[in-house]
Amino acid sequence: MLVEWVKHTLIRCPPALKQAGVLYDLIALESRARRLRRVWQPHHETCRRLIEGWAAQTPGRDCAVVLGSGLLLEIPLDALAQRFRRVVLVDLFHMPSVQRAVRRFPGVELCACDLTGVLDGLADAAESGHLPEPQAVFPEAATADLVISANCLSQLSLRPAVVAWHGGALLPDQIRHWERALVGAHLAALQALPGVVGLICDTARIGTDDRSGAVQERYDLLHGVSLPPWAAEPEQWAWRVAPAPEDHRQISYHHTMTGGLVRR
Ligand SMILES: C[S@@+](CC[C@H](N)C(=O)[O-])C[C@H]1O[C@@H](n2cnc3c(N)ncnc32)[C@H](O)[C@@H]1O
Repeated sequence: MLVEWVKHTLIRCPPALKQAGVLYDLIALESRARRLRRVWQPHHETCRRLIEGWAAQTPGRDCAVVLGSGLLLEIPLDALAQRFRRVVLVDLFHMPSVQRAVRRFPGVELCACDLTGVLDGLADAAESGHLPEPQAVFPEAATADLVISANCLSQLSLRPAVVAWHGGALLPDQIRHWERALVGAHLAALQALPGVVGLICDTARIGTDDRSGAVQERYDLLHGVSLPPWAAEPEQWAWRVAPAPEDHRQISYHHTMTGGLVRR
C-alpha cells in the first residue's frame, strides 16, 4: 500500500483524473498484474495471439489504433509496430512504465483521451442532476486499418458512475441506465468503423467457493448490453482475475472473456 501511495503522490497526472480515481486504478492494475503474473499469463497470451492474428489478416499497413491500451499487458506491441507504419495507443492516462516502453518504437504514439467523452465536467453536471450524452471518442480510428478495443468495454462506465454517484443528485437507476448507454455507444461506434475491428472484452465476473466449488456470485459486467454480431466465430476463455485470497479469503474470481472480429 505504501508503494502505491508514493506512486500516486509522485506520478504527474492531470488532477481531474487523479481525483476521479483513474490513476489509482492504473496503479492498482500494475500491482495486481505483478502479483498475479503467472496466473494472468495465459490470459495475456490469448489476447496477444488474437491481436497478432487480426493484424496479420488486415490488408492495410498504415495505422492500427488500440483503445484501452493500459499497461500493454495484453498488447503485442512489437508485432503491431513491425506491421503498421503508425500505432496509436489510446487510454485515459499512460503510466510512466508505458511512456518508457514505447520510446524504442518511433511509429508508436500515445494518445490520452476519454473514450466515452463524458468525464470532462461530469462532476458539476452530476451535482445538478444532469448526465451527459454518452459518446464514443475514438481518435484516429475513422481512417485506421485496424482498430482494437482491448479489454476496456466493461471498465468504461466504472469511474464515470462513481463520479456521477458522488454528485448526489441522481438515482441509482438513472446511473445504471446511463452505464448501459456508455457501453452501447462504444459497441455501436466500433461497428460503424470502416476498417478491420477486433474486440476483446469481459462479460461476466464469477465468484466460486474454493472449498465447495459452488458459484457464489455472478455479475453481468456489461449491464445487460448484448455484444454485436461477430464477423467470425469469437474465442472464449476464462481469465482467473483474482484467485483466493486476492479479493476474498476463499472465493476465487474469474471473468468470462470473449475476443473476436466485429468487422473484417
Ligand atoms: C483492463 S484494463 C485494459 C488493460 C490493457 N488492455 C493492457 O493491455 O494492459 C482497462 C483499460 O481501460 C482504460 N479505460 C477505462 N475507461 C476509459 C475511458 N473512458 N477512456 C479511455 N480508456 C479507458 C483504463 O485506463 C485501463 O487501462
